[in-house]
Amino acid sequence: MAGVLPTLEEKASYVERMFTQIAATYDATNRVMTFGLDQGWRQQIVETVAPFVDGRALDVGTGTGDFLPMLAAWMPEGIAVGVDFCLPMMQEGLGKLDGASNPAPLGERSFVGGDALHLPFPDNSFDAITTGFAIRNVTDIVAAFREMWRVARPGGVVACLEVAQPCSPLLRLGHQWYFKVIVPRLGGLLSGNQRAYVYLYESARNFPPPNALARMMREAGWQHVQYRLSGLGAVAIHQGVKL
Ligand SMILES: C[S@@+](CC[C@H](N)C(=O)[O-])C[C@H]1O[C@@H](n2cnc3c(N)ncnc32)[C@H](O)[C@@H]1O
Repeated sequence: MAGVLPTLEEKASYVERMFTQIAATYDATNRVMTFGLDQGWRQQIVETVAPFVDGRALDVGTGTGDFLPMLAAWMPEGIAVGVDFCLPMMQEGLGKLDGASNPAPLGERSFVGGDALHLPFPDNSFDAITTGFAIRNVTDIVAAFREMWRVARPGGVVACLEVAQPCSPLLRLGHQWYFKVIVPRLGGLLSGNQRAYVYLYESARNFPPPNALARMMREAGWQHVQYRLSGLGAVAIHQGVKL
């Protein structure tokens, strides 16, 4: 199965449809495909933005809202909002909004339907902005980071988790094989939608490398932009500040 990348004009509706189809199995497939590492990467993002206990955080392209309980645990008196244009993904994550299963005090959490390119919030609203595995899916990466910059307050921070490729040639080869051959089969088996996981490989392959992504963040207005690699280089964590 090749050539699943949609045109730029079709991309937003393609992405929304695709996540609607895999929403029910998204979390379980993620855990299996990343060998359970994905939640640790999200936790690193939360530690990178480190909002105040009574802060306001926004998670862009929140999907099923995996970031929200982590942000809420960091901010027991704060508010964590997840925004996504795929309502079925957020519906799958509704259980993450109530604290029944968590004994520790958690801040408020909520989902809001909306487009990363036109965030439904006023300027200067949030102390911290997170985004994980979402930016690869938007039609205009700089515009998405500019929107995050607009809704961040001065002094606010952003952290972005995205796929990357290991630097070591051997690891890179193994990583490519895993993404190209194993991930679509595994994803197909677990979600019943192999095409979505071929898209995952194709979109990752076409995603800008970490240094180019850092440039795009700067172009969008973020300052002190830096990145580090995690998971043997399989993911990149970018951060920036709005001065
Ligand atoms: C791979 S999922 C990531 C979900 C979650 N952030 C995580 O860490 O698992 C990508 C999410 O980004 C959302 N998304 C993609 N483009 C978007 C846009 N333009 N506006 C809002 N959400 C978008 C998709 O609907 C999907 O839920």
